[in-house]
Amino acid sequence: MDNRLLSIENLKISFDTSSGIARVVDGVNLELDRGEVVTLVGETGCGKSILLKSILRLLATPPSIIENRIVFEGVDLLSLEDSQFIKYRGSKISYIPQSPQESLVPVFTVREQFVDLLLFRGMKRVSRPTYYGMRSNKKVIGEITEKIIKLLRDVRISDENLVLDYYPFQLSGGMAQRVLIAMALSGNPSLILADEPTTALDVTIQKQITDMINDLRNKYKLSILYVTHNLGLAREISDRVYIMYAGKIVENGISTGIFNNPLHPYTKGLLSSVPKLSGEKFRGIEGTIPSYVGPPTGCRFNPRCPVAIKACSEKEPTMKEVEKNHFVSCYAYGGE
Ligand SMILES: Nc1ncnc2c1ncn2[C@@H]1O[C@H](COP(=O)(O)OP(=O)(O)OP(=O)(O)O)[C@@H](O)[C@H]1O
Ligand SMILES: [Mg+2]
Repeated sequence: MDNRLLSIENLKISFDTSSGIARVVDGVNLELDRGEVVTLVGETGCGKSILLKSILRLLATPPSIIENRIVFEGVDLLSLEDSQFIKYRGSKISYIPQSPQESLVPVFTVREQFVDLLLFRGMKRVSRPTYYGMRSNKKVIGEITEKIIKLLRDVRISDENLVLDYYPFQLSGGMAQRVLIAMALSGNPSLILADEPTTALDVTIQKQITDMINDLRNKYKLSILYVTHNLGLAREISDRVYIMYAGKIVENGISTGIFNNPLHPYTKGLLSSVPKLSGEKFRGIEGTIPSYVGPPTGCRFNPRCPVAIKACSEKEPTMKEVEKNHFVSCYAYGGE
């Protein structure tokens, strides 16, 4: 079996805005093998969620342009009709959202939302008689409820029978995220797209959730594409890391290489932005992400870069393998 699970090739995503075309993702290449955890790291607004959501066609505003290839298990997802694509979302590929509380429907209990998900996943439209017919089949609902309870135990919810009848407002942030992870697992996915699943949670719960995701990864043989701006977390969980800046990948490689020997000035800046408990001064990066309408020419980071040279604002450097499995796009390392 081919070991490559996902391969994003020269992905470009643009939106029409009142001030012009915003090129939010601009030529991203990313690969993920079976069983791998890959993190996508970058500061707020750099396009991480847009990239992740585009894989599952979850973008709230349809982009004016989305082009090139997103190949999953050998199939280019971008070439599929919606009717074919629907088989992938929530089954082969699942999504864990950024804000757990907002991602559950407030007026239905966990049980109601979970049952509907398991009964009607992959269906585009269900008639009223079919809906109520399936919902009142006691045998089917009984089997489904058993499956839900097992999944809730997998995500370490101990009072699962109680939680089933909770409304979302009765769940803590951590519990809501566990419920969503259980939902994501319910279709036996081979790929999980996790969009900063612990950002809204406090640090102790963050640790529990990431430990749990790691255990589930081994148990269910999952591959995970994990978006985060938390570098400590990325270091802990990932096999490989992609550093994203303003819609482009500027550096990628195996996790130890990236964290022990960061090369791109942006990656170095990100690492120096982490406050140290020892009280040591942290520096950060001056300035903010540029506008996606008419972004800087050449390397998009050049206006903020402390080591920029003339070439940086003229032409984008190419991606170069500087050491084994460590790639960077920067003139300081010979990118042409
Ligand atoms: N519909 C749209 N039209 C125009 N621009 C958009 C649209 N949606 C998103 N953007 C732009 O894309 C940028 C990237 O958004 P995205 O949500 O992917 O950021 P992110 O990296 O996930 O940030 P965060 O860490 O805060 O979640 C935004 O800053 C915004 O400028
Ligand atoms: Mg985001």
